[in-house]
Order: sequence, then C-alpha cells, then structure tokens
Amino acid sequence: MELAVQTKGLVKVYGGKVRALDKVDLTVDAGTSFALLGPNGAGKTTLMRILTTQIRPTAGEARVFGLDVVRQGSKVRRLISYVPQEMSVWTDISGYENLLIYAKIFGIPRHERRKVIDEVLENMGLTGVQNEPVSTYSGGMIRRLEIACAMLIKPKIIFLDEPTIGLDPAARKVVWESLQVFKREYGVTIFFNTHYMDEADQYADNIAIINQGKIVARGTAEELKHSLGGEIITITFEKGIFKPDIAQEFRKSSYVKDVIVEEEGLNVIVSDAESTLPYLINILRENGVPIGRVSITRPTLDDVFLKFVGTRIVEKGRISDVKHMRDMIRKG
Ligand SMILES: Nc1ncnc2c1ncn2[C@@H]1O[C@H](COP(=O)(O)OP(=O)(O)OP(=O)(O)O)[C@@H](O)[C@H]1O
Ligand SMILES: [Mg+2]
Repeated sequence: MELAVQTKGLVKVYGGKVRALDKVDLTVDAGTSFALLGPNGAGKTTLMRILTTQIRPTAGEARVFGLDVVRQGSKVRRLISYVPQEMSVWTDISGYENLLIYAKIFGIPRHERRKVIDEVLENMGLTGVQNEPVSTYSGGMIRRLEIACAMLIKPKIIFLDEPTIGLDPAARKVVWESLQVFKREYGVTIFFNTHYMDEADQYADNIAIINQGKIVARGTAEELKHSLGGEIITITFEKGIFKPDIAQEFRKSSYVKDVIVEEEGLNVIVSDAESTLPYLINILRENGVPIGRVSITRPTLDDVFLKFVGTRIVEKGRISDVKHMRDMIRKG
C-alpha cells in the first residue's frame, strides 16, 4: 500500500533544550484516516508542522507521499492542506467570499473557481448559507468552512489540528460526516490531532498515542483496546445466595485470567467473553447457583490512554479558551 506519511527517527528540539519529538517512527497508509492522540505538550502540533513543511526537524526524516519534507518542500505543499487550530477564515465577509479568496490564493483558474467552490460548499453542507456573513455562523459552520477552504485544491492529504475542539457533540458529528464525504469521494488521507477519545475511536482507521515526544502505542482502536488484555464479565447474584467459592471453580478454567470477588458478585477477566460466558454459566448451573445479572465490559480507549500516558486527558480550560477566542473573533 502507498504510504501517505512516513517518518524515521524524527527529532525536534526547540531552542536547544525542549525535546518536543524524540525519535518518532510512524507510517500512515494512503486513503485512511489517522488520529494522533496525546496530552498537552506531547508534540502533536510539532509533528504536524514538520509534515506540513512549516518547521524543520532537528534530526531524522519525514516523507509525505514519498517526498522529503525538507528537500522537496514545495512539491509536498502541492499535495497537502492544513487546517490549523486557530481560526483561518475572515468573519466580516461571506462564506462564498472566503472561498473565492482562497481559490485565488491557491491559483485555481478563473473559469474553474465557481464549480470547485460549489462542490466544496455542497460537501460541507454550507450551500444554503454561502452568502451570509461568517459572523452569523455557528462554531461548527465556521469549522466546516475552514475545511471547505482546505479542500478547494483537492489535496491528497489533509492535516487537521484539533478539528472539533470547542464544538458541541452534534456539531462535531456534522463536521466528521462532512469529512467522510471527502474521504469517500476524493480518497483524501485524513491526519488529525485530537483530545477526544470517542472521535479517534469512531473516525480513525489507525491511532497513535504520543506522550512526551514519543509514540507509546499504536494500532486500530480495537487493537489498542485488546492490548489491555481482555474483557470483564460481571456476574451479580440475588441476595443471600452468592457463594464466593464459585470463584475457585472459575479459576480452574484456562480461559479465565483472573477472578475478582466483590460483595454481590464476581468480576471475571477473560480474553474473549463471548466464548467463555456459556462455560461459566454451565459451572453455575452445575453448582445450583441462580444468576442474577450478567454484563460484559470492554476496555475503552480512555483506559488505553490511561495505561500509556498515566493520566486522563484534562481539557477543561483549554477548550473554553478556544471557544472564547472563537466567539470574540466572530463578534469582531
Ligand atoms: N516554538 C516553540 N518554541 C519552544 N518550545 C515549543 C515551541 N512550540 C512548542 N514547544 C514545546 O514543545 C512541546 C510540544 O509542543 P506541541 O505544541 O507540539 O504539543 P501539542 O501536543 O500540540 O500540545 P497541545 O495539546 O497543547 O496543543 C511542548 O513542551 C511545548 O511547550
Ligand atoms: Mg497542539
């Protein structure tokens, strides 16, 4: 498969002391969507800035569709688009006028502009509001306009730094659904940074977790969750009939990794709940223990993040900062 991104031993040191990236090896397949997850200061934006040729690495190499980002920067820039975390549209003019300015900056020939602009407006669900001033748009609509601007040149890869930060869940969903249209129709590779676990879980084909400049885990969401080692079957019993000794019986099975005895029931850790559950129920039947309730829980991406980074993501403050800034800009 063609590689959209490839880095080898990528290092970035700011001002001789801050090691923002520490030997990052990464590949992203063309046509897929890729999420880089990490806490504040992990190096996400730094990596994106190197890949979009805005800053140079200190050591190592990075390629975008086989092109070296340092030696072939201008060729790389023809293939990519970048939506920064900060606002990148003007609010005192209409959505259409913004797109027209970008179309001119990108050198799209005059006779093609209208068609290309109509197409991105349509894909981003903005056709109906194209002539309204951006100052009347919601945060989600502004984000979709920014993405529309970035899509004018039909890039092979789009880099999005925190594409939905500060948006409410409904607006986030619309942004992602619109992005999926571009992925399907243009085959664009999507490379995004995010703090939202559910977003990476739902919309990324592959995920890498970065912490202190190092990639600490990578895989599909399923692989990452699986790497935590299994699923938990929780069995609770009717009052008075719980026999904790049943845990001993469970432990005899090679499918059972561990059993945690709690007051009203058992937490059985297994590698595959679906195949192990009938076996456990059988043991209960043989021992004449009526079951109260059974539930299966799987590790979430949050659990994975917690394991590899050591803390959950705290986004309070930061999101409201961005939101506040966007509101201020919108109001002029
Ligand atoms: N221009 C710069 N000069 C000096 N240090 C910098 C510069 N830009 C980033 N850093 C530092 O490099 C490290 C990585 O920063 P970076 O912005 O890449 O992190 P991030 O993962 O994008 O964080 P956030 O989630 O807050 O956006 C941080 O310690 C940051 O303070
Ligand atoms: Mg950042």
